[in-house]
Amino acid sequence: MSVEFDLSATMAPPMRAEGLPPAAYTDPAFLAREIEGIFHKSWVSAGRAELYPNPGDYRAMTVGGAPVVIVRGKNGVLRAFANTCRHRGMKLVEGSGTCRALKCPYHGWVYGLDGALKGAPHMEETEGFDRGDYGLVPVRIAERDGFVFVCLDPTAMPFDEWWGNYSDIIEPWSPGDLRIARTVELDVACNWKLFVEVFMEYYHLPDVHGQSLATVGYEAPDPCDPSTGQVVTQFGTHPNKAALLGGDIGNDLPNIPELSGRLAGGTRYSLVYPNTPLALSVDSFWFFEVEPLGVDRCRATYHNGFHKSAFEHPEFEIRAAAYFRRWDTAIAEDMAILARQQQGLTSPLARAGRFSHLEGIVPMFGRWVAERVGGKPDPAIVAAE
Ligand code: FES
Ligand SMILES: [Fe+2]
Repeated sequence: MSVEFDLSATMAPPMRAEGLPPAAYTDPAFLAREIEGIFHKSWVSAGRAELYPNPGDYRAMTVGGAPVVIVRGKNGVLRAFANTCRHRGMKLVEGSGTCRALKCPYHGWVYGLDGALKGAPHMEETEGFDRGDYGLVPVRIAERDGFVFVCLDPTAMPFDEWWGNYSDIIEPWSPGDLRIARTVELDVACNWKLFVEVFMEYYHLPDVHGQSLATVGYEAPDPCDPSTGQVVTQFGTHPNKAALLGGDIGNDLPNIPELSGRLAGGTRYSLVYPNTPLALSVDSFWFFEVEPLGVDRCRATYHNGFHKSAFEHPEFEIRAAAYFRRWDTAIAEDMAILARQQQGLTSPLARAGRFSHLEGIVPMFGRWVAERVGGKPDPAIVAAE
């Protein structure tokens, strides 16, 4: 790519770093580099296994714009494929649902749940055509602790390496027993990185959520835990439930049963790079799949859930609605701020800024991005590290 971006100031240690330059949030050339260097090379979230409970359950998604379909096979195996017909490239399925086979709406080619081309009408005069050569293109998929990830790049690092020691870190939240209760698709008027950033910092809480989340009483978070994977993660305490508005205190669902001690009074905020921000709290969890839809627009697929035992609570519906109120209120506050931040960054007079220690993960994320889009660190900074 011909355009050059000077990202060296972003690649300094967090308390010395500048943010990514405004062009990183506004320039289509930068986004093109992210699609190629990040989205098409990383493990990205495809939700959780419970979104696909039965054979034939499928869900379409995009990974850096590339259509992908996740589908559970007849034998129970979860698979992912390019959601692109091998005949003339039609997108096969949209949304989610249950099917017996994947049928192309254009000329009716039919693929089994294992991706094999099962039927291709009127192809008998086509010379040397062998259906066995035209199965769906497979996409790598991995499931860990109930979370499902896909990766378009067959040569990218194995998922185990990407995830690193994160299973050990989140084990107290019994992630295998968590269940999504609701998924909401949000169309957000900002660059995908702004959405990730607001989720990972405490600095904005008093100004943006000062009314709505005041009762939570967020305390300054712990330093990040050492991660061996492509994950940054941090625990912090708060005296009241983080996922309930003040008026709903007492309307809560039971705590995750295995949590104890200090962990039963806080929330672990993590970012599984590049685009899966995840919160594990006392009694609930919430996470996003953030997908760019342009430099100034992204789709955030928002999953909200609880421990499986909470679904048995006699007042589950009413109480879950209180959590949904909190999640909807806070995200609306964030989305309004993010749209304005995008407008500010779009000015030719915008400049990169500096960071508070309460938002230290933002420059870490900036550096992670910079390293994958060709950023070159300042050699003097590297020598000093
Ligand atoms: S493009 Fe799918 S059957 Fe023709
Ligand atoms: Fe926020």
